[in-house]
Amino acid sequence: METAQQFSKTKMRSLSKRAEQMPYSPIRKLAPLADEAKKKGITVFHLNIGQPDIKTPKELFDAIADYKEDVLRYGPSGGLLDLRLAVVKYYRELGINIDLDNVWITTGGSEAIIFAMMAVCDAGDEILVFEPFYTNYNGFSVMSNVKLVPVTTDVEHGFHLPSAQKIEERITPRTKAILINTPNNPTGTVLTEEEMFIIYKLCKQHQLFLLSDEVYREFVYDGKSQISALSLPEIEKQVILMDSISKRFSACGARVGCLVSRNPEIMNALLRFGQARLCPPTLEQIGAIAAYQHIDEYIKPIIAEYEERRNFLFEQIKEIPGVYGHKPEGAFYTVLRLPVADADHFCRWLLSDFSYNNKTVMLAPANGFYSTPGKGADEVRIAYVLNKAQLAEALEVLKKGLEVYKSR
Ligand SMILES: Cc1ncc(COP(=O)(O)O)c(C=O)c1O
Repeated sequence: METAQQFSKTKMRSLSKRAEQMPYSPIRKLAPLADEAKKKGITVFHLNIGQPDIKTPKELFDAIADYKEDVLRYGPSGGLLDLRLAVVKYYRELGINIDLDNVWITTGGSEAIIFAMMAVCDAGDEILVFEPFYTNYNGFSVMSNVKLVPVTTDVEHGFHLPSAQKIEERITPRTKAILINTPNNPTGTVLTEEEMFIIYKLCKQHQLFLLSDEVYREFVYDGKSQISALSLPEIEKQVILMDSISKRFSACGARVGCLVSRNPEIMNALLRFGQARLCPPTLEQIGAIAAYQHIDEYIKPIIAEYEERRNFLFEQIKEIPGVYGHKPEGAFYTVLRLPVADADHFCRWLLSDFSYNNKTVMLAPANGFYSTPGKGADEVRIAYVLNKAQLAEALEVLKKGLEVYKSR
């Protein structure tokens, strides 16, 4: 047998299985092809990523500019007190009664999701999730050694939930939680009262945690509104809510999110996770406090703008032969079925081999939003984060692209 010394001389140690299994993000993986297209002078419309073009509140930048300390110190692990107070006020105004002890500020919603998974699961434990789902759940589950168990939804049913029985069939002794995301990325679907009731009953009956990703809470259209998991009775201690300012204030680069739980044991676990990573970013939290002070006047016109874009998108999509989608109820995404066998190949081809009037479009292949192999092969996710004029151009390019692709 080789000694450790002999081994070290001949071979480098291998990386972890986790590093091998960590997936590329389908949202970003085609970026090198988009860069190449841009180098050739081609304009690329980015419908692949949820980066809104909406202006961040001016007050957020002003508050950061007014910061006058000499030293940028570590802040408290759970976030600045004033931000936690602002978050409590925000929820209370939504009719959700929480206290300061229930809120923990995180470095983006992403950290909130990783912390939530790590707080409830040991390696190999399972979380039920409805696919297609926010693709980074795949990465977070690899990082935290959690097994995501998918329950598939489909475009024909507007990506709404299957029956309680179908969901229950996937619950095993290793299931620790159900993960929901409403309004949803990538589908735009908003869970109805009936669906929230199904989730509530399953969590209650099987004593499961409910991880609820509500980062798109405000973006619900047609005069409807989102039902928060925090408003479900009787399972208060089982709910962990994950939230973020990234989309609410079009402040994706701020990296400020939060976790909300009414379970003191969970809050204590978060305290220890949070202490290990010291603190969330201070300046951006100061910006977030100011943004929350102006949420009412800021958010209303933005919701209206997204609703208009959604309506526009759906009118335009009807004009593209063979494209099938449902009209999303919220967020700013939709998953479309395209008349191609391999949407991943089509998305690459759009960037590397195609342009129309020197323009092309970047989409996210939807297979990366599923965890069942083979699902979503003919689907793409579109983020309607461009203004209507640009959206119109991008959809024209997509229409032409499909024509040329099919006639190759
Ligand atoms: C559903 C969902 N959850 C969480 C996140 C992560 O948000 P953050 O930018 O706050 O990390 C995103 C970002 O796109 C998202 O779409």
